[in-house]
Amino acid sequence: MINKVKGTYDILPNEIHKWHFLENKIREITKKYNYIEMRVPIMEYSELFFRKNEFSDMVQKETYNFKDKADRNITLRPEGTAGIIRSYIENKLYSFNELLKVYYVGQMFRYERPQKGRYRQFMQFGVEVIGNKNALLDADIIKFSSEFITSLGLKNVEIEINSLGDLKSREDYKQALINYLEPFKENLSNDSKARLKNNPLRILDSKDEEDIKIIKNAPNIIDYLSFDSKKYLSKIEEYLKIFKVNYKINNKLVRGLDYYSEIVFEVKANIKNFGAQNVLGGGGRYESLISELNGPKMGAIGFAFGMERLIIALESENLFEEFKNNLDAYVISFGEEEKKYAVGIFEHLRNSSLIVDTDFKGQNFKNQLKDAINKSAKFLIIIGKNELDSNTVTLKNTKSQQQFTLKKQDILKKIKEEMKVHYEDKL
Ligand code: HAM
Repeated sequence: MINKVKGTYDILPNEIHKWHFLENKIREITKKYNYIEMRVPIMEYSELFFRKNEFSDMVQKETYNFKDKADRNITLRPEGTAGIIRSYIENKLYSFNELLKVYYVGQMFRYERPQKGRYRQFMQFGVEVIGNKNALLDADIIKFSSEFITSLGLKNVEIEINSLGDLKSREDYKQALINYLEPFKENLSNDSKARLKNNPLRILDSKDEEDIKIIKNAPNIIDYLSFDSKKYLSKIEEYLKIFKVNYKINNKLVRGLDYYSEIVFEVKANIKNFGAQNVLGGGGRYESLISELNGPKMGAIGFAFGMERLIIALESENLFEEFKNNLDAYVISFGEEEKKYAVGIFEHLRNSSLIVDTDFKGQNFKNQLKDAINKSAKFLIIIGKNELDSNTVTLKNTKSQQQFTLKKQDILKKIKEEMKVHYEDKL
């Protein structure tokens, strides 16, 4: 037996309704917020991700990299933003001089230690708005993620925001943090030790107990924000209040990627037994990524949600309906000639927009009946010798248990009448 690749998973037919539910919600909300879908490749040239200012573990340690047959360096995308920006620049979408509001749904790849809510191939729903820096836009993006969560029915979820400030604020803060952490260097975890030089902000995000104790008294980023960055944050907060978004400021929130500046935010599940991977989604503003990739200097902001984590959250909150086979009718027949007669009826009903199934295995009557019941057919259509000889059908409503003998041409009309009485919501 060949097993699935470590860190991947199968979605079996009895689970797919959960994904369809989520995907439908995504289509609804992106329509409401006026975002258009954009699709970019899963593989990109490695240099797109290995930029000179990107020190994150996600890129440095967790990417799937390989050489193609022509010796090109290729990476399976670990996230969606860089590919969207690459395409934005390559296709000169900036020349339209309009704000580009796009969304994407697709597979991402990170070589992480798999656990509940963390996979090596996973799905993200993300959005990016490219072409402006504006506090209203930033608040609107946070409002979007908050409304998305509510639209799914999730309640025990918190939004945290922080400002990383502009480049100058961040450089000042990084230095202050390094100065503070240096004396504790020997007590820091190995990961944090390694980050001290290149990526000290990430230490704030450490889950190591000793690190957490040390970080507790670290300088606060808010004290290092420039006047403009502070003003920008308070404007965003004003709009968040108008939008009635509930949020908390978390000055230790830094995010896992290095391209952010100014506002960053995360959506966290506060659900019992959810597991360690409780960040459902996150995002923020990024300025330098576009110019780093040789595009024009312009602002952009976005977020991404991990779709598996959303599904785990929906499951934990019992928000999925039971898997149900949605079969309207099942055509049962016995005998060679009867089967041909039955197939005509099956085809007629299938063309009338009903969901119909029949026996494709040559089963006996008892097993056909079992099959129909297993598939929760609302109606059984039974064809035996009597029906064939008299050009009729036997129709059974499995809910009321009533049975009718009908002329062949009346069957659709009768099913619709019965549906109206017993399954009004279906019509
Ligand atoms: P990220 O925080 O790296 O941000 O990922 C976003 C979400 O993807 C996470 O909150 C999590 O739910 C999910 N996720 C990440 N890694 C895994 C994994 N191994 N298994 C399952 N789910 C995972 C970004 O990717 C940014 N591109 C977001 C963004 C868009 N920022 C601006 N625009």
